[in-house]
Amino acid sequence: MNTPSDLDSVIKSGHNRLPMVTMSFHLMNTSIDWALLQQQARAASEQAYAPYSHFPVGVAIQAGSGKIYTGCNVENASYGGTICAERNAIAAAIVAGEREFQALVVFTPQERLTPPCGMCRQVIAEFFTPESPVASCNHLAQIQQWSVGELLPSAFTPLYLAQSAKVETRKLFDATEATGPTESSN
Ligand code: THU
Repeated sequence: MNTPSDLDSVIKSGHNRLPMVTMSFHLMNTSIDWALLQQQARAASEQAYAPYSHFPVGVAIQAGSGKIYTGCNVENASYGGTICAERNAIAAAIVAGEREFQALVVFTPQERLTPPCGMCRQVIAEFFTPESPVASCNHLAQIQQWSVGELLPSAFTPLYLAQSAKVETRKLFDATEATGPTESSN
């Protein structure tokens, strides 16, 4: 398995247009287990439900707690109902109580290394810092790495909603606390 320190020797350049980041990342005093993330992303891809695209994707993310969460793509006969592996992995971590994330690894079983799609980049930017590493790997042990900021520069994040949204959310909670939940009439 490959770690960022030996990335140079395994990266096959020219697959993607974005520049590669090859520095070592140690965030929140927890080091990132790249080998484990790659292995878990690969295992997750084997669970992909992709009968329409035949394009299985697996993702593993390391959360702030150090725990790893995985996701695969889940397609739908109504194609728009498809959910990508990245967003499924993030949702699994969120429901487990995680709110901060350290690294994300995508696995696709093809030579062309796959970066997250645009919608997933937006969701990643919600929870990861711009400096967080995102890597893509494949069955040939090739890996390419970017930062979240490279994948989605000038991202729209919760920061922009800080003023107005907080007030509105607080108002909603205050109203519920004061009156209690309303009972259904049926
Ligand atoms: N897909 C992902 O799971 N992640 C991405 O970032 C790119 C696309 C999935 C969605 C769909 O099931 C299949 O790949 C083809 O687009």
